[in-house]
Amino acid sequence: MESSEKISAAISAGVDVFRINFSHCSREEAFMRVENIRKAEKEHGRPIAIMADLAGPKIRIGMMKDGQEMTEGSLVAIHKELKEGDKNNIAVNHPEIVDNLFLGCEVYLGDGDVRLEIVKKGKDKAIAKVTAPGKVRSKMGFSAHGLALKKFEISSKDKADIKIACEAGMDAIAASFIQTDLDIKAIRKLVEKEGRDLMLIAKIETQQGIDNAQKILDVADGIMVARGDLGYAIPMERVPHVQKELITLARSKNKPVITATQMLESMGQNSFPTRAEITDVANAVMDGTSGVMLSQETSKGMYPLESVRVMAKIARGAESYIPVIDLPELNEIYDAVATSAVSVAEHIGAQFIAAFTESGSSARRVCRHRPDCPILALTPSISVARRLCFSWGVMPFVAKEPKGFEELDDLVRIALQTGYFKAKKGGTVVIVAGVPFGLAGSTNLLHVAKI
Ligand code: PGA
Ligand code: MN
Repeated sequence: MESSEKISAAISAGVDVFRINFSHCSREEAFMRVENIRKAEKEHGRPIAIMADLAGPKIRIGMMKDGQEMTEGSLVAIHKELKEGDKNNIAVNHPEIVDNLFLGCEVYLGDGDVRLEIVKKGKDKAIAKVTAPGKVRSKMGFSAHGLALKKFEISSKDKADIKIACEAGMDAIAASFIQTDLDIKAIRKLVEKEGRDLMLIAKIETQQGIDNAQKILDVADGIMVARGDLGYAIPMERVPHVQKELITLARSKNKPVITATQMLESMGQNSFPTRAEITDVANAVMDGTSGVMLSQETSKGMYPLESVRVMAKIARGAESYIPVIDLPELNEIYDAVATSAVSVAEHIGAQFIAAFTESGSSARRVCRHRPDCPILALTPSISVARRLCFSWGVMPFVAKEPKGFEELDDLVRIALQTGYFKAKKGGTVVIVAGVPFGLAGSTNLLHVAKI
């Protein structure tokens, strides 16, 4: 998905947010991709968000001799330091990890196709037995249940990538392996140093991240259920529970949540998904996720556009099956108005809800209820509009700030005239806004109009 033509086609297929994965992207490539996405965004006339994904402190093995294959039952020493590993000796990039390994602990290398079990602990190394054999390469991922660093570190590469994300004008940063709220705060500081205000999405992919999710959500702008690494960090059968819990938590705090990894995995090679994948994407939507993410399906798969189309289709099909849940009130007046807007819209069969929003929060307060109709968010700020691409059911639109109450209906009509948002003439719309206009954070006006 490199050229602006391909990007443009992906937008037509349903993409709202592009992820630029800094695990595989140079500075030049990042700038080029942003340029191409912005070009396509302009053509389409709808806001598109760009999310930088930081590599983060992933635990990996060190450099390895070429062509190493671990055989079943053989012993492997895991060292704190080693120049070059082989089939019987490996090292990890964070030496403290060796101390955290315990007898019986199962270790996954790479995508988990090579597995080891710790059978002996020494001072500077641990000895493991190979339980699932396979080829091992330099810098493969190294994971085990509950394994984490004592302290989250922002590497010099991550610092440089944060700078690139800011300079290139990206909208959000997905921060990998976040363990506590302090990690997000540290990244926020670096972004502020660049004079920018980017959305920070905390990727929850460790047990520590799960344990601290409440506090993380208080300071982050959203989270990602990063099921890839999570699948090794906790017992696999717990991943579906954690997904549901994290989604509900994010929704209750009025923050977007992305469900990621292997959603349409088989579409890397096939033009049609498995029934299990269809059900997985649909279930994530029914769990209440704001967004679903594709990874290799679009970055190197054979059917990138078809994957997007299929995902959009499944998501749309699942949207009307999202169960209503009790959400805690975050603010009496604002939430009461947003909740009422959703119930009025349902009662009168409104075509859509229009939210005039300065900071995006009016629109998010509405979308948290997952109403039966779409939400048109009108904001004077392009960066707020792009941030709203992460929110469920929201169509962001850059509009003039209303000067007074009488302008509201006209501004909605103008948005419809662009053709970007389709609505029948003469239909009803429920409008929410905050008065006085231009003041961020308030939602205190509910108005029903014919368009
Ligand atoms: P990754 O993050 O694709 O950057 O590893 C997502 C995940 O772990 O699921
Ligand atoms: Mn990950």
